Amino acid sequence: FAKRTPLVAGNWKMNLTRAAAGALIGEMKPLLKDASCEVALCVPFTDLEAAGAAMAGSRIRLGAQNCHWAASGAFTGEISADMLRELGVAYVIIGHSERRQYFGESDQTVNARAKAALSAGLRVILCVGETLEQREAGEMEAVIRRQMAGALEGITGEQLREMVIAYEPVWAIGTGKTATAAQAGEVCGLIRSFLAEHYGAEAADGMRIQYGGSMNAKNAAELLAQKDIDGGLIGGASLKAPDFAAIVAAAK
Ligand code: G3P
Repeated sequence: FAKRTPLVAGNWKMNLTRAAAGALIGEMKPLLKDASCEVALCVPFTDLEAAGAAMAGSRIRLGAQNCHWAASGAFTGEISADMLRELGVAYVIIGHSERRQYFGESDQTVNARAKAALSAGLRVILCVGETLEQREAGEMEAVIRRQMAGALEGITGEQLREMVIAYEPVWAIGTGKTATAAQAGEVCGLIRSFLAEHYGAEAADGMRIQYGGSMNAKNAAELLAQKDIDGGLIGGASLKAPDFAAIVAAAK
């Protein structure tokens, strides 16, 4: 199969107002111009227009961090996939562990949001990952398989091609406690096996699987060298231009 082009996506989470967003992207652009991987920045909703304008002329793709499952309606505070599409959004993160942890996201709502995003022509970065308690209880594989099955319920092979899976061990997010390359590679391998079981070997081989969880300029190369890791979903390090650029440079 053709080598997969890694995707390195920054997840700014709830950081940077629109002026700061434009300034950071302006700092990043020259550092990312020779990137050999695909690059995206998933920014707060309020920054989408400014970030999209700041990215003009670069290959950085615009991303968001969530979307609702309904096309419109009485969902106070929510944002629809079509609203994102109209702003030039290419990628949307769905099922991030912080949304599962703090905002009641379930495998079923993750599935519904992913379908809505795909229907609107967005690419989906689907997050899965176990907690420390689940890992220590030996439940990691069962949790990953449950999350994958729930999120991909009713998703066709054609839709799958518009998706990226991000393995984000909850215990490594924002903690500085990065998974070892072996741990991350093992789980991304499990995810690829799940995809092969449900969609066939060719589809699985074509899927990009990112690692996320305290990936930084120092550990990126070792993580990205794992055969089943095709890029990263980057939180803290994506708020610093040199650090994010170093991770992009390591993704070949
Ligand atoms: O979505 C990426 C994020 O969860 C990872 O955060 O700060 O550990 O890189 P961080």
